[in-house]
Amino acid sequence: MPRRTSDRQLFFREFLRNFHTTGAVLPSGGRLAAALARYVAENGAPKRILEVGPGTGAVTRRIIAAMGPDDRADLVELNDRFVVYLRECIDNDPGFQSVAGRIRVHHCAAEELVAEEPYDLVISGLPLNNFTPPAVERILQALVGLLKPGGTLSFFQYIAIRRARALLSGRKERERLRGIGLAMDAVLRGNEIRRDWIWPNVPPAWVHHVRFQQSDRQALPVE
Ligand SMILES: C[S@@+](CC[C@H](N)C(=O)[O-])C[C@H]1O[C@@H](n2cnc3c(N)ncnc32)[C@H](O)[C@@H]1O
Repeated sequence: MPRRTSDRQLFFREFLRNFHTTGAVLPSGGRLAAALARYVAENGAPKRILEVGPGTGAVTRRIIAAMGPDDRADLVELNDRFVVYLRECIDNDPGFQSVAGRIRVHHCAAEELVAEEPYDLVISGLPLNNFTPPAVERILQALVGLLKPGGTLSFFQYIAIRRARALLSGRKERERLRGIGLAMDAVLRGNEIRRDWIWPNVPPAWVHHVRFQQSDRQALPVE
């Protein structure tokens, strides 16, 4: 079976099985993946990269394509079926061979990852809109905490989805969505260095890139 078909089938099955954490029907499209991987090739210096929620590897493949010879990547994934799939890719997929020995999969929640060293770049594919506001705060806080000073966090959100959902929802859900917006704003405010508008994606998405110095990281709200 062609790889793309099997990726999509596995992703869709996991969407049905774990809607809450999978968060999308299909893997990310090429433009969204490329925007999330924008800073991998920046300045050519060796980097430690963390990808959060790699799923079937749509963004991972873009990261690998942009990695320099001394870059290393860790992938952290919650879903055990995606973990098995990614480990098989690392062992057998020619697209992963250029980074053999420099890429690892960690099977745990991103917010529980204990890193040996901080990262230059954290790239998140997490479906933050599906979580509670305290969970989004906790996750973003953890991701920022995994960065080196001056490191970059890239993450996405679907444009206007929260507003559209809020229009169709009751008070409790509206409050949840508002809380997620506030948690994201707290990270974005004063730290966003670039925003990519990915209109060909379904649904269209923003990719946010935020960069922190040490003092900004300490200033983030803690639960
Ligand atoms: C929207 S999918 C993105 C998959 C892939 N990055 C892509 O763009 O096609 C979200 C991914 O995040 C994973 N995930 C959800 N919550 C997680 C968590 N707390 N820690 C690590 N991975 C998580 C899901 O299992 C899923 O693989």
